[in-house]
Amino acid sequence: MNDPDPSGFLQVDPEAGTFRVARRAFIDEGVFRAERERIFDRCWLYLGHASELKKKGAFVTRSVGGRSLIFNRDAAGVVHAFLNACPHRGATVCREKTGVAKNFACAYHGWVFGADGKLRDLPGKDEAYAEGFNDDGCADLVPVPRLEAYGDFWFVCFDAAAVPLVEYLAGATEYLDLVGDHSEAGMEIVSGTQEYAIRANWKLLVENSFDGYHAVSTHATYFDYLKNMNGVLSQDNVVGFARDLGNGHAVVEYSAPWGRPVANWVPAWGEERRAEIDAVYARLVARHGEARATRIAKNSRNLLIFPNLVIVDVMSLTLRTFYPRQPDYMEVTAWACGPSEEKDWLRKNRLHSFLEFLGPGGFATPDDVEMLEQCQRGYANAREAKWNDISRGMKKTEPATVDEHQIRVFWRHWNELLSPGRPTPRVVPLKAA
Ligand code: FES
Ligand SMILES: [Fe+2]
Repeated sequence: MNDPDPSGFLQVDPEAGTFRVARRAFIDEGVFRAERERIFDRCWLYLGHASELKKKGAFVTRSVGGRSLIFNRDAAGVVHAFLNACPHRGATVCREKTGVAKNFACAYHGWVFGADGKLRDLPGKDEAYAEGFNDDGCADLVPVPRLEAYGDFWFVCFDAAAVPLVEYLAGATEYLDLVGDHSEAGMEIVSGTQEYAIRANWKLLVENSFDGYHAVSTHATYFDYLKNMNGVLSQDNVVGFARDLGNGHAVVEYSAPWGRPVANWVPAWGEERRAEIDAVYARLVARHGEARATRIAKNSRNLLIFPNLVIVDVMSLTLRTFYPRQPDYMEVTAWACGPSEEKDWLRKNRLHSFLEFLGPGGFATPDDVEMLEQCQRGYANAREAKWNDISRGMKKTEPATVDEHQIRVFWRHWNELLSPGRPTPRVVPLKAA
């Protein structure tokens, strides 16, 4: 493919402390095509969580990286990911979103596949097909080129030559471990999925998902509401840091004054609940020690696993993925996740926050969606008004969550993949651009 942008996407000047991103990156069709080829066809992409396949024969279907996939567990307990396209003439083999099945039968001509993907039966098998018809396996379901798990998190990659998942995840494994450590019995996806679309470029949601800078202004309504409800919650005492985790992954980690069902009691939950939370916390300390237990229970984290998995571990735990259908349109999927042993009232509290703050009909996400769509509208002016500014905290050695370090981490890696072989340019004053 031709280079989509021979002039470069970034303007970076470490001495001046400036970092700018070309708005063309959000609107250009060539960039969009290059992203599909160089990012979504090559990076490891989140597929699903092991808890979604508890039973033998369990399956879910979902779209990942523009493909329709079947994610399932066969009768022997082995986990698979197949491309959801019949080897006969290509029809979608499994049309349900979720279920339990021994076989998948294609509705078009009736070919039947086992949960292990092998062709089991087909009409006309004995009289119309040569003996040994499928000896080479060409009529079996096609597996994804790569399928690997880290803990309970399953990922796929459409590049057979990709590095192993654990190598790709780099420093993000520490943060996936922290999620797993919420629970003694294992984390689980709570049934019920949020699905929505945003008329904006997907990278705007990457930025927004761990952007501490926007909270006070964009979410003023939500914080006013919480203040009225609880009388205590404000963004003022949020303290924390941002970290580059390698390979474009980054995180912000901070202490925030909201309750966390994992084990951070707040007065709004009532004194009568305090002992229960203290007991959960004590068990965390017994398993992980005081320092790690504090981190697991009290700290909040917004993690990006490049390119499009976000784990928002705040007053609930949301996993979110998104995929661009067009340069200015993305589809978003989000799941709530929690300890499988969680008490009912804590689960209720968790799901309330999943809907109230982060849900597409809640107090925060609609405000975010509105701002992302406003940005996209602003990019109609990109030929003349060319640059986004991502400079906040550029010269700090210890960037805070309200700085933009984590967003720069994403853009540097994105730029390396989109402009291979070209180092991030040292620039030239903006006026000359
Ligand atoms: S397309 Fe599936 S059986 Fe023909
Ligand atoms: Fe937000």
